[in-house]
Amino acid sequence: MKIGIMGTGRVGLPTGVGFAALGHAVVCVDKDIAMLERLQAGKIPWVEAGLEELLRSQMGRMRFTIDAKELCGADVVLLAVPTPSRPGSDASDLSFIRQAVGEVSAAMPCPAVLAIKSTVPVGTGDVLQAKLRRKNSKLAVVSFPEFFCEGTAVRDFFSPSRLVVGVEQEWAREVMDHLLRPFADRCPLLFVSRRTAELVKHASNAFLAMKVHYANEMADLCEKTGASGADVLQAIGLDPRIGNQFLRPGPGYGGSCFPKDCRALAAMGRRWKVPLRLVRATIAGNEARLKAMVRRILSTVQTIPCPRIALLGLAFKGGTADCRESPMLAIAEGLIANGVDITVFDAAADGAKNLSMVRVRHAVDATDAATGADVVVIGTEDFYQLDLGKIRAVVRTAQIVDLRNVLDADRAKCFGFFYLPIGEKPPPNG
Ligand code: UGA
Repeated sequence: MKIGIMGTGRVGLPTGVGFAALGHAVVCVDKDIAMLERLQAGKIPWVEAGLEELLRSQMGRMRFTIDAKELCGADVVLLAVPTPSRPGSDASDLSFIRQAVGEVSAAMPCPAVLAIKSTVPVGTGDVLQAKLRRKNSKLAVVSFPEFFCEGTAVRDFFSPSRLVVGVEQEWAREVMDHLLRPFADRCPLLFVSRRTAELVKHASNAFLAMKVHYANEMADLCEKTGASGADVLQAIGLDPRIGNQFLRPGPGYGGSCFPKDCRALAAMGRRWKVPLRLVRATIAGNEARLKAMVRRILSTVQTIPCPRIALLGLAFKGGTADCRESPMLAIAEGLIANGVDITVFDAAADGAKNLSMVRVRHAVDATDAATGADVVVIGTEDFYQLDLGKIRAVVRTAQIVDLRNVLDADRAKCFGFFYLPIGEKPPPNG
């Protein structure tokens, strides 16, 4: 089949490369010429395990262009443009979607499937389909939400937990069925109504965010009561009705999806007059958590005049350089607002540049960041192999606040650190 991709970002590109690897001819359209040139040269401007290698092996089947007219003749065009929060509102900004749909319909006079991969509010497909019909377009709008995670996009593309397709026309269903046939024996393939598929995406992300927030709340309770957060969460996760994933407590959830999608779902609730109290409580709880993490870090240096704090890891999770809505950026800003000097290190994260430069030093590595520090804060899972001997030799005060629980508590203590993980009663300090 000929597949078109509108938007070569973190969703569009892995999808396009994945379908090329399944033997399809793929045309990728984007507005960013510099990005297209890099992709054409087999380079990916962000961190995504295995994607660059796969892209290079599929160059023969892929084209990169700024011109949407090259989509002409495609059987399916997958729309993967961003849907950020609307400025000053929680609702999704659909302007990129509208523009992309306009370009695709102008380029494609023949019947084809226009599958929306971007996360959109329920009912968006209906509005787009009605608009296309008024323009006599022969495109069938399908909702085909994406569930892969940053950092594991390639693996998730080839081994999805499920594929959900929201479709209203039988011929469009047949086209999608043909496209997705290679997955039929790998995962459940659900054909549902377009509105259903749209809502599945928001409902899924908000549920996972809620689960993470629940783990964080239980971790807080464990710290106060002396129960072990790690053991409580492991034990509840062993119940298959609960499941052990997304129960790792941390600094709060972040990224380009959970925060925005929870807010958009809450906005949908307001629009349709359904209270969605759990979703709203999750949003408020996560925001409060970021402030609590700032207090937690400050509590370790409250008796130290002019304390120095080292933050290791600024991305919204390990295995990525993405700092969008990263809890660690919010925590860094919170520390700076409290008048503290911080040193930051993240090998890959370019989002560090967004931090106001006053009171921030950018270190070249973890040891450099820790030099002279009164507390070292672990912000992402990437620091699980931190050389504690090296760090101990350079810090001013031996304290570690581990917001990801990646270090071994006994080992940290052996090196003489006061070690504060999430979910365990703090040891006496001193
Ligand atoms: C999320 C969803 O997991 C994907 O299924 C979805 O396709 C994607 O959004 C999207 O909408 O495009 P992603 O944003 O890559 O994927 O990140 P996650 O791995 O889900 O993590 C989100 C946040 O939750 C991170 O800040 C992470 O550190 C945090 N988290 C996750 C925890 O604190 N604890 C956990 O146990 C799991």
